[in-house]
Amino acid sequence: MIRKLSKSKSKKIPPRVPEGEAITDMPELSMEELNEEFKKRMKEYRNFVKFILYELFVKDNSQVLEIGPGPGWITIIMAQENPTLKITGLEISEDMIRVANKNVEEEGVKDRIVFLHGDATNMFQLKDNSFDVIITHDSLHHWDNPIRVFNEIARVIKPNGIFCVGDGRRDIGLGAKVIFNIAKLMISKEISYYWKTSIMAGYTPEEIRNILDQTDLKNKYEIKKDIFDLLITNKTH
Ligand SMILES: C[S@@+](CC[C@H](N)C(=O)[O-])C[C@H]1O[C@@H](n2cnc3c(N)ncnc32)[C@H](O)[C@@H]1O
Repeated sequence: MIRKLSKSKSKKIPPRVPEGEAITDMPELSMEELNEEFKKRMKEYRNFVKFILYELFVKDNSQVLEIGPGPGWITIIMAQENPTLKITGLEISEDMIRVANKNVEEEGVKDRIVFLHGDATNMFQLKDNSFDVIITHDSLHHWDNPIRVFNEIARVIKPNGIFCVGDGRRDIGLGAKVIFNIAKLMISKEISYYWKTSIMAGYTPEEIRNILDQTDLKNKYEIKKDIFDLLITNKTH
C-alpha cells in the first residue's frame, strides 16, 4: 500500500508574549537572590565576552556601552579580561544598578565601570558617535520599542564601531525543549518560570530581521543562531 505523504509541516511557533522592561525587586525574589541566580551563568557570560573581545576584535582603550547590564557580571568579566576598556552600563532598573554597583566594588573594577540609570529607547545622556563597542545580552526581549533602541545604537556608535546583541529566541526546536524540561528539574520554580517567560518574549530570526530592516542598522548587520540564542553583529561580508 502506498501511503500518502503528509505535507511538510511548517514549525509551529507560539505567539510572542512581551515581558515588562525593568527587572525590579519582586515579592517572591529579591534582587540579591536574583543576583545569585545570574552568577550561575558565569560560563555563558565568559563565552559571550570572549567572543566579543577576540572574535570581533575589540581594540585596547575602547569605550564600551552595555545596554541592560542587570547585576553587571558581563561588564565585570569584560573589565577583568581587558583592563584598558572603559565601560558604561545603561540600565533601566535602579534596583539592578544597586546590586551591580555592589558587585563591581567587590570585584575591584569600580574605577573602569559606570552605571547610568536610563532607558535604551532614548539614550539622551549619550553623545552621537561616542562608543567603539556596544553590547547587550538577554535584554532585547524586554525592550518595548526595539526599533528605537536599534536607532539609538546606530546613533551613539562610532563609525566602524562593533555591536553585538545576544538574546534568546522563541522558535526553539525539540532539542532545546528537551534540555529546558530537564534543566527545569534542577532549578527553582521562580527561575524556570522566568526562563520560560523570556523564551516566550524572544524574537525569531525573521522577526528581528524585519525590525532591523526598519532601522538605521539596515544592511549593516548579520544574524546568527544556535539552539537557544540569536546573535546580531556587524555584517562581516
Ligand atoms: C534578563 S536581564 C539581563 C541582565 C544581563 N545583561 C545578563 O545577561 O545577565 C535584562 C536587563 O535589561 C534591563 N532593561 C530592560 N529594558 C531596558 C531598557 N529599555 N533600557 C535599559 N535597560 C533595560 C532590565 O532591567 C534587566 O536588568
